Amino acid sequence: MVSGTCFAEFGTDVAIVETNPDRLTALREGRIPIYEPGLDRLVEENVEAGRLTFGDDIAAAVKGADAVFVAVGTPSRRGDGQADTSYVYAAVEQIARVADGYTVIVTKSTVPVGTGREIARIIRKTRPDLDFDVASNPEFLREGNAIQDFMRPDRVIIGTDQYKPEGTERAQNILRKLYRPLYLLETPIVFTGLETAELIKYSANSFLAMKITFINEISDLCEKVGANVNDVARSIGLDGRIGKKFLHPSPGFGGSCFPKDTRALTAIGRNAGSPVRLIETTVAVNEQRMKDMGERVIAFAGGDVSGLTIGVLGLTFKPETDDMREAASIPVLDMLDKGGAKIRAFDPAGMTTARPVLPKSVTYCTDALDAAKGADILVVMTEWNEFRSLAPEKLAAEMKGRKIADLRNIWDPKAIKDAGFDYISLGRPDAVQPHQA
Ligand code: UGA
Repeated sequence: MVSGTCFAEFGTDVAIVETNPDRLTALREGRIPIYEPGLDRLVEENVEAGRLTFGDDIAAAVKGADAVFVAVGTPSRRGDGQADTSYVYAAVEQIARVADGYTVIVTKSTVPVGTGREIARIIRKTRPDLDFDVASNPEFLREGNAIQDFMRPDRVIIGTDQYKPEGTERAQNILRKLYRPLYLLETPIVFTGLETAELIKYSANSFLAMKITFINEISDLCEKVGANVNDVARSIGLDGRIGKKFLHPSPGFGGSCFPKDTRALTAIGRNAGSPVRLIETTVAVNEQRMKDMGERVIAFAGGDVSGLTIGVLGLTFKPETDDMREAASIPVLDMLDKGGAKIRAFDPAGMTTARPVLPKSVTYCTDALDAAKGADILVVMTEWNEFRSLAPEKLAAEMKGRKIADLRNIWDPKAIKDAGFDYISLGRPDAVQPHQA
């Protein structure tokens, strides 16, 4: 959705194919099926300008196209954690059947190393007569910030078949043209081989996931020794070699990308006989962390939450999205529910998506203060901006108890404690007593 719409914004004619009838109807009626700030306006403008269309007819969309982007899902396969490429291969086969004239078939989906080459094989088998090239153009968009990330990227990666120099040049020229507006902004455009581009995507996401996991472990250590993780993160981040981004401690990284891509990279490494042990550990530490967070809340409650009312602020895996995939709130709320707590939850965008994945007994509230109503404990799961400005006195007026577990460090420990709360957060000595040896 975002890439297609942004290409249209660059002045390119884009036809988006959507096979889900409900989603297609919504799109044709101008309703955007995902929550992404700014996307609705951009879609509307480009549809009006006649550059962006939605349909379910692959042949019509592919006819005369210079490039066809495959952006279907590659979910984790159950059991081995590998990315499931069946949707990609199915899409490619359909594209090959209807392509007319030279076409570059580009993967936007995050696919295992070697997928581009397999795609080329499938196309050759399906349409031996077709003149085509395969390219890999991984996306680095963050949900909630995707348009900005597309329009002002740190870099664009374009991988083409390094063993086919003539095809490489033709494909590169088409993709270079597509990204010309970014070229003018002096965005680095890195041309690589197919396998390299595929591995860049997994390496980038896994490195960021590892960085988060590192600061999460340092955060735990801070609690034991009386250090402050915010100061540690800021100070190490000032070293340009480390960088200050993605050093916010959390109840664990979630979403549709980091958990899936870290698992996939470990599978790629194992299969290639070159295990990526740092990432294997990252996966394990992160999964354990989410469970630990549930236990932390239970311990904070005094070891037993049965019969307690727990207010929960934020459910999605991060703010500015309605995405609940692999959100830390899922295991945490599950533990609280199993422990017999009554849960009152509020999320500004994710309540519809949360319902099917959270315990049935959760009560969904109209706003943050409603979630705090009668609560013995309040737990912050996602750092939506609107929670930061909540006055502690207002929370106190709604709550029955005086305990806050802030798992995103959104509040100043002193201000919250001054308002009479018993407060824990992540890795900050003002909020947690140092461990007594
Ligand atoms: C991630 C990458 O950041 C994008 O560059 C990439 O394009 C995308 O995956 C993808 O592969 O499609 P996204 O999953 O939207 O983007 O979200 P992030 O902002 O990266 O956050 C992921 C998780 O890490 C969230 O649960 C967030 O709360 C957590 N996180 C992030 C932290 O716990 N601490 C941080 O400092 C930053």
